[in-house]
Amino acid sequence: MQKITAAITAVGGYVPDYKLTNKELETMVDTNDEWIRSRTGIEERRILKGEGLGSSDMAVPAVLEICKKRGIDPSEIECIICATVTPDMVFPATANIIADKIGAVNAFGFDVSAACSGFLFALTTGASFIESGRYKKVVIVGVDKMSSIVDYSDRTTCIIFGDGAGAVLLEVNEEGNGVLDSILKSDGSGSKYLHMKAGGSVKPATMESVLAKEHYAYQEGQAVFKFAVKGMADVSYELMQRNNLTADDIAWLVPHQANLRIIDATANRMDLPKEKVMINIQKYGNTTAGTLPLCLWDWESQLKKGDNIILAAFGGGFTWGATWLKWAYNG
Ligand code: UT7
Repeated sequence: MQKITAAITAVGGYVPDYKLTNKELETMVDTNDEWIRSRTGIEERRILKGEGLGSSDMAVPAVLEICKKRGIDPSEIECIICATVTPDMVFPATANIIADKIGAVNAFGFDVSAACSGFLFALTTGASFIESGRYKKVVIVGVDKMSSIVDYSDRTTCIIFGDGAGAVLLEVNEEGNGVLDSILKSDGSGSKYLHMKAGGSVKPATMESVLAKEHYAYQEGQAVFKFAVKGMADVSYELMQRNNLTADDIAWLVPHQANLRIIDATANRMDLPKEKVMINIQKYGNTTAGTLPLCLWDWESQLKKGDNIILAAFGGGFTWGATWLKWAYNG
């Protein structure tokens, strides 16, 4: 009997209209366009403006796009897994709020907190649900409203992050396409380099924590950079080795968009030419859990059935990983 695989059968995405350019950031903090471009590759990022709007408001259009493309009603979705570190609220899970807003009345849902690796962790989890034979339609969302946790007076973090959402539908595939292998890793000792100081159970919100700006993302950029370069490149290479994949076999690398220099280092380690690497960091910045599905969204029309694709990410936690999938349809 042919093993069931879980294949992506549709991709949706959403980015807010507002573009925060490097030029505008120059008016907010002591930085300049040249520094940002050369150190990160970012030119602009999208920001969700508007009172009362959160991550679910970006995820909803992304998921509805999937339903439209596949011609399915939201009531057919069985499970929604939402990767995010900027949920609408600490609880309940944003996945449930998305389900309610789109009318996915038959879906159960939960959130995955794995920062920039969240989409990969959620994708692998969702693929296992499909592979088990128990579920037929699982939606994976990667979304972050990073502008809600970024300190716009801190030039080392505010230049990097942006807002956006991407989503994919996982369905059964019997042709051997879909998610074929993943290597996922976590190391909590890295949490000291990238975290939010207050607002959790250790340090609940107080007037002092707000005044001390402890509800923003804290990052020691250089330390994270060093771990990210090594972690993302090593795990991608390991995934290739254990599946006997050469650079020629791979059609696309889909790397987390945190810094162009980290992307280049990963591509070099895999011996991949630039033309095979999806890069949209210049227009969206680092949307945390949103980067990987937003790349798939931007490139969907160029993807062909049978393409070998490696997705790779590194982020807070630390968390990192790589996933090999064979694309299941012509874009
Ligand atoms: O996605 C989640 C995981 N996150 C990441 O993967 C991010 C990894 N880290 C990075 O991408 C980089 O470390 C940053 C982009 C955050 C910073 O780039 P860097 O090349 O590591 O800069 P740095 O922190 O080593 O700072 C170099 C210099 C410093 O000045 P001095 O001490 O040499 O005089 C900084 O103060 O650049 C200065 N600097 C800036 N200058 C202009 C830091 N930020 C800025 C800025 N504009 N925005």
